[in-house]
Amino acid sequence: MAASSSQVMLAMALLAALLSLAHGIPKVPPGPNITATYNGKWLDAKSTWYGRPEGAGPKDNGGACGYKDVDKPPFNGMTSCGNTPIFRDGRGCGSCFEIKCDKPAEFCSGQPVLVHITDDNEEPIAAYHFDLSGKAFGSMAKKGQEQKLRGCGEVEIQFRRVKCYYPLGTKVTYHVEKGSNPNYLALLVKFVGGDGDVVAVEVQEKGKYNWIPLKESWGAVWRIDTAKPLKGPLSVRYTTDGGTKAVSPDVIPEKWKPDTMYVAKY
Ligand SMILES: *[C@@H]1O[C@H](CO)[C@@H](O)[C@H](O)[C@H]1NC(C)=O
Repeated sequence: MAASSSQVMLAMALLAALLSLAHGIPKVPPGPNITATYNGKWLDAKSTWYGRPEGAGPKDNGGACGYKDVDKPPFNGMTSCGNTPIFRDGRGCGSCFEIKCDKPAEFCSGQPVLVHITDDNEEPIAAYHFDLSGKAFGSMAKKGQEQKLRGCGEVEIQFRRVKCYYPLGTKVTYHVEKGSNPNYLALLVKFVGGDGDVVAVEVQEKGKYNWIPLKESWGAVWRIDTAKPLKGPLSVRYTTDGGTKAVSPDVIPEKWKPDTMYVAKY
């Protein structure tokens, strides 16, 4: 069925409105990268939110870090997309921030809440931008004012990098990604305490001494392609942004399977 001319006109008017809206967003250059420094200073940022009001965002099961189930413990939906200097091309995945808002004073509690970076948002609306889950955005509100605060859509916040603390019993978790095989291993690393973000991942075959470096793939996923098949069990060593190294001995068993989660013993 051919569209009537009025439908075409409407579509064109909508397109023009969208384009002017897009052009109307002032481009703000991103601020310097936020690395693992904990000087306690609060910086200014813009915050927005997306998804369901009480949800972890529409990407409960994904996002640019590749984490799944971000609505479940230990993230509990307290998640955020970061812009360029916060997401840092995936390196910021898993880093933790305290955020708070003071204005509007009738809705904002001014009390800091902790969020985990699980996704990316590159809209150039501020030097620092947190696009929060509905739950995280609402949690900056005074009790009972969550919905009113969400109604503001966008609020100015203060933020600072903090160390990640997970509930007792939460261990570093490695997800062997789909498609992995003895010549190609892709590992998603999550629930790293302390700095939270990972800047290097290496594996070691049982009984060997050398550590084999993995490459950054995307988000929190690290990968290696190797002509010589990797033989499990594999120990994994990761380095955080602050330079902390930790080893998960034999965490990937001899008969590992793709699309499977392996939890560090310690
Ligand atoms: C910011 O982080 C990204 C991703 O890690 C990196 O490529 C870039 O070089 C960093 N920029 C600065 C100025 O350190």
